[in-house]
Parts: sequence; C-alpha cells; structure tokens
Amino acid sequence: MNHQAAPLLRIEHLSKAFDGIQALNDVSFSVGAGELVALIGPNGAGKTTCFNVVNGQLEPDAGSVWLAGERIDGLPPQRVAMAGVGRTFQTAATFASMTARENVQLALLAGSGEYVVLAHRLATARRSEADALLARVGAGSFAEQVCASLSYADVKRVEFAIALAQREGAPRLLLMDEPTAGTAPRDRGPVMELVEALVRDTGVATLFTEHDVDVVFRFAARVIVLDRGRIIADGPPASVRADPRVQAVYLGTEA
Ligand SMILES: Nc1ncnc2c1ncn2[C@@H]1O[C@H](COP(=O)(O)OP(=O)(O)O)[C@@H](O)[C@H]1O
Ligand SMILES: [Mg+2]
Repeated sequence: MNHQAAPLLRIEHLSKAFDGIQALNDVSFSVGAGELVALIGPNGAGKTTCFNVVNGQLEPDAGSVWLAGERIDGLPPQRVAMAGVGRTFQTAATFASMTARENVQLALLAGSGEYVVLAHRLATARRSEADALLARVGAGSFAEQVCASLSYADVKRVEFAIALAQREGAPRLLLMDEPTAGTAPRDRGPVMELVEALVRDTGVATLFTEHDVDVVFRFAARVIVLDRGRIIADGPPASVRADPRVQAVYLGTEA
C-alpha cells in the first residue's frame, strides 16, 4: 500500500468522445496542493472538456477523477463545487445587471445551500464575506457597480471572486479556463499575479488554460500539453518548451 499523501487532483485514464471526436483520449495527470499548473494545447485539444469532466458538467466515457483521494467523477457540478472545486469559465459569467458584490453574495449563498432565502436577504446576506473576497481580487473599489458597467478585465476579477466563493471556507482546487482571455496584453500580468498570490497564500491547487505563451511560461510551475485529446508533455516549463513534439504541434519554432 502506498502511504504517500494523495495529490489534490488526480485524473486517471480519462476518455470522452463527442460524435466520433475523441476530445479526451486516455488522459492522466495530477496536481498537488499549492501547485500552479498550465494546461495548454491548440484549439480543440480538449482543455475545456477536461475542465467540464473534472467539475462534473460532463461524465467521462472512461477513467476517473479523484479529489484528495475521493472519487468525484459523475457527481453533479454542485456536489463537486461543495467538495472544493472552484471554476471560472472561458467567457466571463456574471450577472450583468447585478453589482460585483451581489454576484459574489449569490455565489456564497449558492455554495452553502441558502439559495431559497436569497430574494429577501441579498442586501445583507454574506456581505462582509463578499467584500473580503472582492478586496482579495482587487475589486473592492467597484463592489457596488453593476457588472455591465465594468471593463472585461474587472469582470474577470469578479468572476475570480465568485470561483473563490464556491465553497465554505475556500476551494481546494481552482480550475481557470483562460483567465486572461479577452483582456488586453498589458492586463494579463496583473490578472495572473493575482492568481499567483492566491496560490501562494491559500495553497489552492490551480489548473489554468491559456493561449498566451508568454503568460504560460512566466507563471506556470508546471506545464501539461494536450494535442487532439492526448497528453504529449507534462513537466517544468523549460523542458516542455524545449520538447520537439511540443514545438511541432503547438509553439512553432519560436518557442
Ligand atoms: N459539447 C460538445 N459537443 C460536441 N463536440 C464537442 C463538445 N465540446 C467539445 N467538443 C469537441 O471536442 C473537442 C475538444 O474541444 P474543447 O475541449 O473545447 O477544446 P479546447 O478547450 O482545448 O479548445 C473539439 O473537437 C470540440 O469541437
Ligand atoms: Mg477551451
């Protein structure tokens, strides 16, 4: 028997097909607590599908997903969230007509099953917690602005606070699908510095997808490369960058 501590996230032999397209093909990898890992690959490689399976939106055809030693594949997304998996989406997902604070309050209430009392209590419910999360992601100054009036980068901050609100306490695993998508290149560093600080301060295991190669190699402690549903590399940034297979399918010659 192996007595080593289980990695926070362990994915084993995951496969998922859509109409004959093998979106995930025998994918296995782990992410440890406090690790900031990039999952990269060309469009259609299977990154979002991988996130969808881990957070319970999709059931895999084969394979298993383990969170701190507990099997979570096949559980509904709400259960996965309550087990400690926070998620942000490729397209920012906030309620445009609600303020930044209300969006985070909503996430806090949903995560604790207090949804039903929402209509009566949103003005005060979990307000200080919501403000603490907003402050943590640099969104404190616009807590009372409706999300429709915010810049895309600021909506991303609110979304990030929502992901952190998805469990009592804090998420143990954060899945961030292209956290910097739609943000200007100059805003990408600050968004990722926020992620980096959170990983450092909270020990949350974080898996992110990202198209901007500079961002990937600046921030990821480890890089996993998917190509047509298969993992073709998994290691420290420098060795992944130097891998001829990775250069051929993804990075081109300039990597
Ligand atoms: N819900 C779906 N129905 C059908 N095909 C899908 C669905 N989701 C993803 N796919 C297909 O699976 C493959 C992987 O997609 P995706 O996981 O979105 O890749 P990535 O996020 O790396 O760009 C693509 O060929 C895509 O068209
Ligand atoms: Mg995607």
